[in-house]
This record gives sequence, structure tokens and C-alpha cells, in this order.
Amino acid sequence: MTSISIIGSGNMATAIGTRAVEEGHTVEFLSREAAKAQALADQIGQGTTVGTYGSRPAGDIVILAVLAGAAVDVVTHFGEALSGKILVDITNPFNADGSGLDTTAGNSVAEQIAAAAPDSAEVVKAFNTLFSSVLKQGNVDGFLAGDSVDAKAQVAAFMESLNLRPRDAGALSMAHALEWAGLLLVGVARNGAGFDLALATQVA
Ligand SMILES: NC(=O)c1ccc[n+]([C@@H]2O[C@H](COP(=O)([O-])OP(=O)(O)OC[C@H]3O[C@@H](n4cnc5c(N)ncnc54)[C@H](OP(=O)(O)O)[C@@H]3O)[C@@H](O)[C@H]2O)c1
Repeated sequence: MTSISIIGSGNMATAIGTRAVEEGHTVEFLSREAAKAQALADQIGQGTTVGTYGSRPAGDIVILAVLAGAAVDVVTHFGEALSGKILVDITNPFNADGSGLDTTAGNSVAEQIAAAAPDSAEVVKAFNTLFSSVLKQGNVDGFLAGDSVDAKAQVAAFMESLNLRPRDAGALSMAHALEWAGLLLVGVARNGAGFDLALATQVA
């Protein structure tokens, strides 16, 4: 069992939090609107709690389930309260018309978060290639990237517990490639495959 804190109360917060509780993890929600976090905790139940937005999260793993454009501000707002935590960046920084990304190589959202977070926090990019609807079903690949072997191992174990197959893409510098992979996923989904879809690796 892992202790998970989720910042955000939208689609992905709901999907990851629901699955985590189903698999026996302890889940805490933190939202800039406390009432939304409380409503989500009430909906999921089973001991789910609500933390104070901006205060130290209870979970060892902190999932940043917020919009890409807000993620760095959120991490800056929490500041030292995130020291020693594993921060999971799930964002897809698509540009306004969905034709590309707002980020550049070496400046992915995950790398921006790492620069803004306390030195003792470790950032892992994960979950961004998984639609919330697909998370409910599981049994698909989920890519991750990060510089800390231990942090990646903990996030990978959490993913496995949700019936996902973690696929380690390498260092945090690969986060930009995962952001492009998110765009690839949406492109394929919109051009005939539909959203009941995940990217997959295949071992020959
Ligand atoms: N939906 C998917 O299938 C999917 C799949 C993979 C990755 N993602 C990524 O996951 C992230 C969340 O997506 P979602 O679908 O869950 O979005 P969503 O339903 O719109 O929820 C976004 C959450 O971000 C919070 N937020 C937005 N701006 C904020 C700010 N300035 N400060 C603090 N919180 C802020 C919102 O809070 P309020 O409710 O207070 O506005 C809300 O809780 C996004 O980065 C997205 O790219 C989504």
C-alpha cells in the first residue's frame, strides 16, 4: 500500500484516485477549491481524505493532476512543503490549436517542475499517455521518465498495482518525448481510433 496525494480534482484526479483506492492505497486530495476536493473525497469514500492546499501533502507520491500551464505555479505555491516528495507530472502541454506543444526540448513541464521544486523532491513524468477512461480498464502500457531510479521504481510499482504496465523511457530529459507521445496519442484517437486507446510497446 502506498500513500498518495493528488493535487487537483478534475478528470485525472478522479480516475487515478478512484483506481488507487480500489487497489488499497491511501489517497488524499488537495485542490485550490477545498469544496471540490471534499466532494471528490466524499464520492470515492473508503477513508479518502482532504489536505490543505499549499500545506505539506500526506502522501509519499504527489500526483500533479492539474493543467500543464498551472503545474509550475502549483509547485511554486507549495514550495518547501514538497521537500522529499516524489512529484508525478501527468500533464500534456498541448498548444492552443492542438497542433504541437507549448514546451521545447530540455524545457518540458516535468523539467520546469524539477527546477521549481525543492532540491530534495524527485520528479517523474508518467500517466500523460493514458486517457482517464482507459485508466479505469487498465491492462495497457504507461510510460514514465525521471532521473531518480528509486522514484521511478516507486511510481512503476504504483502503476503496476493499478494493472498498468510501466515502461521506463529513461531520464527526465525524455519527458519532452513523452509530451509528444501524448500528442501522438490524441492524434491517433481523433483520426479514427477513438479514445478507448493507449500507446503500446511490443516486444518482438
Ligand atoms: N483527461 C485525460 O484523459 C488526460 C490524460 C492524460 C493526461 N492528462 C493531463 O492531466 C492533467 C489534468 O487533466 P484533467 O483532464 O484532469 O483536467 P480537468 O478535469 O480540467 O482538471 C484540471 C484540474 O486542474 C486544476 N487547476 C487548473 N488550473 C489550476 C491552477 N492555476 N492552480 C491550481 N489548480 C488548477 C483544476 O482546478 P479547478 O477545478 O479549481 O479549476 C482541476 O482540478 C492535464 O495536465 C492533462 O493534460 C489528462
